[in-house]
Formats: sequence, C-alpha cells, structure tokens
Amino acid sequence: MDKANLHVFFLLFLILSCFCESNDQLTQANSLSPGDMLISEGRAFALGFFSPTNSSKSLYLGIWYHNIPGTVVWVANRDSPISKLSSVKLTITNSSEMVLFDLSEGRTIWKTVNTTSEGADGAIVVLLDSGYFVLRLPNGTVVWQSIDHPTDTILPNTRVLLSYKAQVVGRLVAWKGPDDPSNGDFSLSMDPSSNLQLFIWNGSLPYKRSLVVNEVSVSGGTYQSNTTSVMSQYVYYTGDELYYAYTVSDGSPYTRILLDYRGNLSLLSWNNTSLSWTLAFDTPSSCFLYASCGPFGYCDAAAVPTTCRCPDGFELVDSLNLSRGCQRKEALRCGKENNFVTMPNMKVPDKFLRIMNTSFDQCAEECSRNCSCMAYAYANLSSAGGTMGDTSRCLVWTGDLIDMEQASFYTENLYIRLAESPVQKNGEFLKILLPIIACLLLLAFAALVWKCKRRGKQQKKKVQKKMMLEYLRSTDEAGNKNIEFPFVSFNDIVAATNNFSDTNILGKGGFGKVYKVLAKSFT
Ligand SMILES: *[C@@H]1O[C@H](CO)[C@@H](O)[C@H](O)[C@H]1NC(C)=O
Ligand SMILES: *[C@@H]1O[C@H](CO)[C@@H](O)[C@H](O)[C@H]1NC(C)=O
Ligand SMILES: *[C@@H]1O[C@H](CO)[C@@H](O)[C@H](O)[C@H]1NC(C)=O
Ligand SMILES: *[C@@H]1O[C@H](CO)[C@@H](O)[C@H](O)[C@H]1NC(C)=O
Ligand SMILES: *[C@@H]1O[C@H](CO)[C@@H](O)[C@H](O)[C@H]1NC(C)=O
Ligand SMILES: *[C@@H]1O[C@H](CO)[C@@H](O)[C@H](O)[C@H]1NC(C)=O
Ligand SMILES: *[C@@H]1O[C@H](CO)[C@@H](O)[C@H](O)[C@H]1NC(C)=O
Ligand SMILES: *[C@@H]1O[C@H](CO)[C@@H](O)[C@H](O)[C@H]1NC(C)=O
Ligand SMILES: *[C@@H]1O[C@H](CO)[C@@H](O)[C@H](O)[C@H]1NC(C)=O
Ligand SMILES: *[C@@H]1O[C@H](CO)[C@@H](O)[C@H](O)[C@H]1NC(C)=O
Ligand SMILES: *[C@@H]1O[C@H](CO)[C@@H](O)[C@H](O)[C@H]1NC(C)=O
Ligand SMILES: *[C@@H]1O[C@H](CO)[C@@H](O)[C@H](O)[C@H]1NC(C)=O
Repeated sequence: MDKANLHVFFLLFLILSCFCESNDQLTQANSLSPGDMLISEGRAFALGFFSPTNSSKSLYLGIWYHNIPGTVVWVANRDSPISKLSSVKLTITNSSEMVLFDLSEGRTIWKTVNTTSEGADGAIVVLLDSGYFVLRLPNGTVVWQSIDHPTDTILPNTRVLLSYKAQVVGRLVAWKGPDDPSNGDFSLSMDPSSNLQLFIWNGSLPYKRSLVVNEVSVSGGTYQSNTTSVMSQYVYYTGDELYYAYTVSDGSPYTRILLDYRGNLSLLSWNNTSLSWTLAFDTPSSCFLYASCGPFGYCDAAAVPTTCRCPDGFELVDSLNLSRGCQRKEALRCGKENNFVTMPNMKVPDKFLRIMNTSFDQCAEECSRNCSCMAYAYANLSSAGGTMGDTSRCLVWTGDLIDMEQASFYTENLYIRLAESPVQKNGEFLKILLPIIACLLLLAFAALVWKCKRRGKQQKKKVQKKMMLEYLRSTDEAGNKNIEFPFVSFNDIVAATNNFSDTNILGKGGFGKVYKVLAKSFT
C-alpha cells in the first residue's frame, strides 16, 4: 500500500517534472511553484525559484543558465524575498498579468506592472533561448518582457531600452552582495542630463563614465578576444528610443555583461573546460574612476601603470596628489587671440553643452568667440542616425574639464583653449635661435673645408669603404642598423662625413654615432 502510493507519487512526480522540464511556456491553466521550472526551447535557460545559497532561507523567482544553475541572470522579486517555508505560486491572471502570490500570507509578492494591454485575456509566458521571457497575448502582442526590466545582467543579441524620449528607462542595478540579490548601491544607466553617455553610479554619485556616443554609434568599439569570438556593442537610436545591444559571433561560448556588487562592469565568458566564468573584458584601473585625475587632468591609458597627466599648457596642481588636477601655466586673458591645443585620441570630458545643428567650423567658432568656452569637440552622428533630429554633435565646455582619458582606441579630438599657443611660442623661439645656429654651422663648415683642402686627397676609396663598414658595425651596438640616408650614395656619405673623421662626430645618439653631414656634398 505504502509502496504503491510511493510509486504513484514517483510516477506523478516524473510526469510533472517531465511536463515542466519540456515546457518553455506558462499558461493560465497551470502555475509555477518552488521546484518547478520553465526551460527554454534550446535548453539554454531556466526560469523558476532559486536560493542564492543553500543555507539561505529566502527564495527568489529568477532566470539562470540551465546548465549553470549558480549563474542567475534575472531576478523578479529582488527586494521581497520569499520565505522557504511559505507556499507560493506564479500564475497568469485573466487580465494578462503575471503574479507571484504568497498563499500562506495571502499577499502578492511581485507582479508585472504596466503591461501594455491591460484587460486582455489569455496571455501566456514564454521563456526564450536568449535568456528572457515575454508575456504575450494570443494574437502575439507582447505586453511585458523581462528584458525591459533588467537586473544586473545584459545578455548578448538582445537589446536593452535605455531611454525613451530622453527619459532614462532601463537601468541595471547590481546585487547588494555576492549572495544578496536585493538592489545594491551600484547602477548603470544613461546620463539623464545629456542622454549621450552611460554612467555607473555609486548611489547617486558618478562612479565611472562611458564615452560620449560618437560617430559610429558604437560605444567602446569592437572588442575581440580569444575566448569570446567577436563582440561589437552598439548604442543606437530608433526614433525616440535609445537601445544598448551587443553581439557575439555564432559558436561563441555563453557570454554575459555583469554589473557586480562592487561596481565592476565586466564581460564574462563561460569556459566549458574549467567550468568557470572567465573575465573577457573589464574596466580595471582606478584611472577609469570618475574624475580621478581632477579638473583638467586626464588619465593616460597608454602608461603602465596608467597615470594622470596634464594637457599641454597645464601643470599639476600637486605632484603628490594627482587627483587635485591641473592648472594653467598661463592665465587666460579674454580678448586675446584664440589658441586651442588639440588633444587626440580622447574620451572627452563630462558636463558639456551640446550645440545643435552645426558644422565643424561653426562649432569651433562657437567656442572661439565666447571667452567662457574652455574646450570643444565635434563628431558626426550620421551613421548613428543622429539624436534629437541632429546628425552633428558639437560639444562645448564652459567649466572645468572633468574625467578625461587618452587612449589609442579613442578616435576623438578635444580642442582646449590656451592663453597662448605653445607651438607659436616655439616658433618665436626658433626664429631667434635659427640664425645663430646657422651662423655657427657656417663657421664650422668653412673651417672644415679649409682643413680638407689642406689634407688633400691622400686617402683611397678602399680605406673609405673599410671605415664605412666599421661605422655600420659601430651602429650595431644600439641594435639599430636602419639608418636612413635616402637618395644619398655611399660615396656621398663618405665625402660628406670627411671619411668619418672623428672631428665630425656631433654626438652619439640612440642610433649610434651621428655625423655632421656637409650639406654641399649632396647636390
Ligand atoms: C548546495 O546544494 C547542492 C544541491 O543540493 C549541492 O550539490 C551543493 O554541493 C551545495 N553547496 C554547498 C556549498 O553546500
Ligand atoms: C477574472 O478573474 C476574477 C477572479 O479570479 C473574476 O472575478 C473575473 O470575473 C474574471 N474576469 C474574466 C473576464 O474572466
Ligand atoms: C507604471 O505606470 C505608472 C503610471 O502610468 C507610473 O507612475 C509608474 O512609474 C510605472 N511603473 C513602472 C515600473 O514603470
Ligand atoms: C491583440 O489583442 C489586443 C487585445 O485584444 C489588442 O489590444 C491588440 O491591438 C491586438 N494586436 C494585434 C496586432 O492584433
Ligand atoms: C560608494 O559611495 C559610498 C558613500 O557614498 C562610499 O563610502 C564608498 O566607498 C563608495 N564605493 C566605492 C567603491 O567607491
Ligand atoms: C589571441 O589570439 C591571437 C591570434 O589570434 C594570438 O596572437 C594571441 O597571443 C592570443 N592571446 C592570448 C592571450 O591567448
Ligand atoms: C566547449 O566549447 C567549444 C567552443 O566554444 C565547443 O567547440 C565545444 O563543443 C564545447 N564543449 C562542450 C563539452 O560543450
Ligand atoms: C579554459 O580552461 C582551461 C583549464 O583551466 C584552460 O586550459 C583553457 O585555456 C581555458 N580556455 C579558454 C578559452 O580560456
Ligand atoms: C572589482 O572592484 C573591486 C573594488 O572596487 C576591486 O578591488 C577589484 O579588483 C575589481 N575586480 C575586478 C575583476 O576588476
Ligand atoms: C587629494 O586631493 C583630493 C581632491 O582635492 C582630496 O579629496 C584628497 O583628500 C587628497 N588626498 C590626499 C592623500 O591628500
Ligand atoms: C536641426 O535640424 C533638424 C533638421 O534640419 C531640425 O529638425 C531640428 O529642429 C534642428 N534642431 C535645432 C535645435 O535647430
Ligand atoms: C558664453 O557662454 C556662456 C555660458 O554658456 C553664456 O552664459 C554666455 O551668454 C555666452 N556669451 C556669449 C557672448 O555668447
């Protein structure tokens, strides 16, 4: 009797679990309880109840990788955990809402809010292989989808709505701790004031800042790594909507972007040999922290380790505390001529004003003629389709330049206003110095010619050749033989250097000996 019962129970359990296991859909006719799950068609993802740790007394409704149960990519009731002891059910109402209901306490724990087709009946939930679920009506209209309500993860080949009509909509919010899915301190969203850049926030303070959306509408560019075949990421506009998406090539391992509880944003990919997530890309250095180089300072990403530097015409305020930033060597005087230093390969600073519908020249002019304009930058948004009906992106800065970075992978120029162009200063300096140098050279030249004539032409070409070989050998010590004397023959060099006479050695540089060449011999 007991045995028979057990058998029946076991069978029932099997049937039930088979039913659930093979099902990627939830309808009004059934419901989901702890222990049940939906599994996407290709078996990549599962939706059900989980506990962050075995010891945890809390249950959450979430989505995880079916083969990697510990990796949760979405959580529904992150701020209202369910006690493991209570009896809960996930159902779809006859008004097409999805509701997580606590039967023991008779309360709604979580539900889909603001479904777009309230009142319609017969909705179903489908868990997709891309890792999110849709709540849709029988006619196919999607009334709610989890991707519009992300938690801390962005999955590939899905698009996340960041803003709508310049209002921030989508937002990643990190977990509070490694085992605590509740809303943490760190979040990621579009910059509400410009709608042109992404921020990671620590509470309400900026923590890290992305590029300003630029020319190719790709923020961060194409990223290629050996673990994740190819990734490109996009921030793009379709009318009033702004999306973020990234793609990985077919056959790539599982990949996800995670904003973790410590505020690190990283791209992780699954290694099916070591059975672990490996970091494919992150934003590691403290240099990337918001404004870490202070006003007018920029982070030099090419330096190892990365460090703070000042633009030309600026100097450190305090060489012992780089975060105090940089100051001008020479104060700006309004009304004087406009000089701008060009900083290439820049992540341009924060707190800009955007001037709409300008050409590059108009943008430069806009900044030049206003004394309070500190810098400008210009980009073309045409391939991004433009924002707010504008395909130009003229940015100007009137206050301190905050949070700049220079790295080879940035493509933008920043033009910073200076009191006086250092190039021009050099020019003036050279104007005075050049005649003096020329005079000295002429004198030396005259002396040499005189010396040569006196010595006559006793030396044979053989000797010259031997000396040339010696000369080349001697340059070898610097490991550099590729000295370029374009369009000059060997004999010319021998003659010009007065048979490599030591009197003509000007000095030893990185390329071996440097000979003073008699210009006349080359014509
Ligand atoms: C948690 O429970 C699972 C399944 O019951 C078990 O495989 C795993 O070892 C447990 N983990 C810990 C840390 O106890
Ligand atoms: C929906 O369900 C509620 C209670 O479950 C019921 O009162 C109501 O009549 C139902 N509405 C329709 C349109 O079936
Ligand atoms: C739902 O809509 C209401 C009003 O339409 C709005 O106040 C509320 O913020 C929305 N909630 C979410 C989560 O979007
Ligand atoms: C689907 O049905 C809903 C409710 O019945 C309706 O509001 C919506 O317009 C329909 N969508 C299409 C594409 O027919
Ligand atoms: C986040 O901000 C809090 C207070 O605002 C601060 O104590 C904490 O150190 C910050 N965290 C990081 C990682 O900067
Ligand atoms: C990545 O692959 C390239 C060739 O495709 C190779 O040159 C490089 O060393 C690899 N890097 C690592 C870290 O394995
Ligand atoms: C592991 O990943 C590689 C490349 O992504 C794939 O070719 C291989 O089939 C995978 N192995 C398993 C056991 O999934
Ligand atoms: C995966 O892990 C194994 C074992 O740790 C390692 O040998 C291998 O290089 C890793 N594969 C990738 C693509 O990182
Ligand atoms: C994540 O952030 C913490 C503190 O902010 C830092 O110590 C740690 O190195 C970071 N981890 C990675 C992988 O970048
Ligand atoms: C460095 O300067 C920053 C900004 O002025 C200040 O907040 C910080 O306390 C200083 N650090 C030290 C070690 O003096
Ligand atoms: C910019 O130009 C576009 C198209 O010419 C126009 O629709 C838009 O209103 C202009 N914006 C401003 C601020 O002038
Ligand atoms: C210069 O720019 C400032 C700040 O944007 C603005 O208040 C001021 O009116 C501008 N002056 C001129 C002459 O355009």
